[in-house]
Amino acid sequence: MQKILIDCDPGHDDATAIIYGATHLDLVGITTVFGNQTVDKTTANALSLVTLLGLDIPVARGSEGPLNGVVRHGGDVHGKTGMDGADLPAPDREAIATHAVDFIIEMASAHRGELVIVPIGPFTNIAMAIRKEPRLTEWLKGISVMGGTTQVGNTTPVSEFNVWCDPEAADIVFRSGVPLWMVGLNVTRQVGVTEQDITRLMEGGPVAQAYGGLFSFFRESLNKVHGLSTASLHDPCALVPFIAHEMIDYRHCHVEISLAAGPTRGMTVCDMRRLTNQKLENIQAMQPNNCHVAIDVRGRALVDHILRAIVEWK
Ligand code: BDR
Ligand code: CA
Repeated sequence: MQKILIDCDPGHDDATAIIYGATHLDLVGITTVFGNQTVDKTTANALSLVTLLGLDIPVARGSEGPLNGVVRHGGDVHGKTGMDGADLPAPDREAIATHAVDFIIEMASAHRGELVIVPIGPFTNIAMAIRKEPRLTEWLKGISVMGGTTQVGNTTPVSEFNVWCDPEAADIVFRSGVPLWMVGLNVTRQVGVTEQDITRLMEGGPVAQAYGGLFSFFRESLNKVHGLSTASLHDPCALVPFIAHEMIDYRHCHVEISLAAGPTRGMTVCDMRRLTNQKLENIQAMQPNNCHVAIDVRGRALVDHILRAIVEWK
């Protein structure tokens, strides 16, 4: 079974990635980062989730803010706690003493060539781990991110929230040379929980009801802030290549993060037509295909597959 480590900022859809990953994969640990709320809150949420699900896995607290620049939070969409809408149990344990950055390095070293890191919040912890231990790039089997977009953004016209929160960290990850998968908003917005799905979850057991409450809040706030009619399951999509790869199509191409100040900052510039790999006169240098970029999804089938993990959770 594929070993994964989820690096997250729970987060309604992060909570969904945790249950989906724990159902189908060997989840060796969870690391937290600022993003949807402060790192204190996202860590408390991660601890409540492992308590709710009875998961015996370590949770390591990570970065409070980006490598450069100001700290941003997503409270407009995820609420005051970062996971408003569900009545979750108080944590029955604490985060481990090891910092997320060191825990990532430890896990990658312990499982050389076997571990896939799944960053579904700002990429600060992973970037810091690569800076601290450059051999990490040889030890990891892959990195599969939820972040970016081939089309429009959700934070600026061209930038997606996780990348926008720490573009320099994203740049380090995308240049790392580790086999990389990126599922962005162009795909994840098609993976939406409907009102009928929520009603069905509310008729289930305590875990289904907790997720029903989360999705209900998330759906309403995404409607208010972005005019969407469903609750987008962004984050679990990053696990799909290792669980149900036939549900999402990826294209291998060159991706670069715009670090320029101004309107393109945080943009994931995806060379979908592989123009930088052709010897066109206006291209200076051949650029490597560094990323598998998600381009299409069986949206409804994937929602059903993800929700099954919640409904059938034991
Ligand atoms: C991403 O930002 C957060 O709101 C979600 O948890 C997801 O990781 C979507 O842009
Ligand atoms: Ca997230």
